Amino acid sequence: MNEIMQKNLQYKKYVIDSNLEYFKPHSTKIEKTFAEDVSYSLNRDSKFISPKYFYDKKGSELFEQICSLPEYYPTRTEIEILKKIKPELEGYLDVSFRLVELGSGSSVKTRLILDVFDKIQDRIEYFPIDISEILTESSELLQKDYADLHITGIVDTYEGGLEFIEKYDDKKNLIIFLGSSYGNFTPSEGKIFLKKINSIMKKDDLFLIGLDLVKNKDILEKAYDDSQGTTAKFNLNVLSRINDELDADFDLENFKHVAKYNEKDQRIEMYLKSLVNQSIIISKANISLKMAQDELIHTEHSHKYTLSQIESMMNQTDFEIKEIWMDEKENYSLSLVSKK
Ligand SMILES: C[S@@+](CC[C@H](N)C(=O)[O-])C[C@H]1O[C@@H](n2cnc3c(N)ncnc32)[C@H](O)[C@@H]1O
Repeated sequence: MNEIMQKNLQYKKYVIDSNLEYFKPHSTKIEKTFAEDVSYSLNRDSKFISPKYFYDKKGSELFEQICSLPEYYPTRTEIEILKKIKPELEGYLDVSFRLVELGSGSSVKTRLILDVFDKIQDRIEYFPIDISEILTESSELLQKDYADLHITGIVDTYEGGLEFIEKYDDKKNLIIFLGSSYGNFTPSEGKIFLKKINSIMKKDDLFLIGLDLVKNKDILEKAYDDSQGTTAKFNLNVLSRINDELDADFDLENFKHVAKYNEKDQRIEMYLKSLVNQSIIISKANISLKMAQDELIHTEHSHKYTLSQIESMMNQTDFEIKEIWMDEKENYSLSLVSKK
């Protein structure tokens, strides 16, 4: 057993070829965590399901469809900014950097950053981290287009992946966290998370984070409740996932997708609203759930920020801001930071 395997005993290693390998936690650990989390979060007066459980195969496919909806401005705006900043980003990188991505998903935007690496490196090292199996498919697609790419995928939570990276070796990392996924954290969780990233970063590492900006309520609510009903399907799919994986009997017809902007807390809040009085059994989580008509299950927060909030968030978590880039309409931002 090599040194990396010894350090990562909780993972199983899958070697696909000389340029592609994955590390995955043992499946019993994954199922147990899902059941325990669901049991905890649905057994409360204010029910919730963590947004990380949206992304089974179907959920990841639905998210990809959301990304190309006319109402969903974040993806196309982030792509627009990434295209614009390629030359500037290149100035911050050199041959010794490798790319680490939190919540890599389809790795579509990643390609814009890999293009920058490709210009300056003969062999690119990429470490995607994603809780969803979509990571394996995206990695295989990337390999077809980048001959000099070496991928080490970590199918795990952000935190698990960051610990993996911290123990891995001493090379410099550009860590990227796109899609405004950071907005799913509450402000206090977010601060803890930024501190975690900061603590695993080395002196010369860089961190690039995409954050959505405060804007008109109507634009925001349409982005999370589109006319084709794709976001509604995405939200409801988490109940199908619980049915499939935890042996439950949610009737999706008895729930409705709700997305509203909370101006005070600057966040989109997504819920699943019970349309009737109902009982649900979730066998593998060992719970029998009663829900009243109109009762809500909270499934996602998506926080929006002002520039001064971003600056103070970075300051408070010991980051130095190198750049904050935005699109022309100032709808979305990308911040490049390093350790103070
Ligand atoms: C909103 S999507 C963003 C995907 C891509 N980065 C983009 O910008 O389009 C969030 C991605 O993060 C993954 N994810 C969500 N919560 C996670 C968690 N706690 N740990 C690891 N990955 C997570 C999901 O599987 C999904 O692929």
